[in-house]
Amino acid sequence: MAKGGIVWLTGLSGAGKSTLASSLSAKLAAQRPVELLDGDEVRTFLSAGLTFSRADRDTNVRRIGYVARLLAKHGVLVFVSAISPYAATRTEVRRAAEAQGIAFVEVFVNAPLETVTARDVKGLYAKAHAGEIPAFTGVSDPYEPPEDPTVEVRTDRETPAESEDKILSALRSLSLC
Ligand code: ADX
Repeated sequence: MAKGGIVWLTGLSGAGKSTLASSLSAKLAAQRPVELLDGDEVRTFLSAGLTFSRADRDTNVRRIGYVARLLAKHGVLVFVSAISPYAATRTEVRRAAEAQGIAFVEVFVNAPLETVTARDVKGLYAKAHAGEIPAFTGVSDPYEPPEDPTVEVRTDRETPAESEDKILSALRSLSLC
């Protein structure tokens, strides 16, 4: 059986988490079992009905962690892309994985607020800055950056290929690809 693991991409909305996770999982799918748990998609199914309150975000993150562990136990390399803004909750999920012997790679997908606001892929930052979306991460709700991520990518300064290579080399060093 392949070695399972969890690659957890955290960062602001629009930082590039989903893009990196889907590109990497598509590339690795040829060589090993992979799965992708994307925040937007999880909120459509597994976490339908949850809000963006702290309690609901934590519930969302814990659910994703739970499913990721189930998959990883069976040899799947699970890519997670979710803002997951609270450091303590991310740590909780990492510890739960490691307690089961599951490798956990925390990737900080870092781009400054000015950059994600300028990109505004979904048009949400304009609304958030106008006060039309309450508790929007980075604007009117906290984002706690990881203090010691396994990998940090700077999507405002690196090409997607450079960011992917950094993540892939971390995965290689853990024999996950
Ligand atoms: S998390 O905080 O619970 O980890 P998650 O990654 O699932 O968030 O969902 C984030 C996505 O929901 C964003 O990319 C954005 O499209 C959407 N969204 C809607 N409202 C908010 C909000 N108040 N804060 C952040 N993202 C929001």
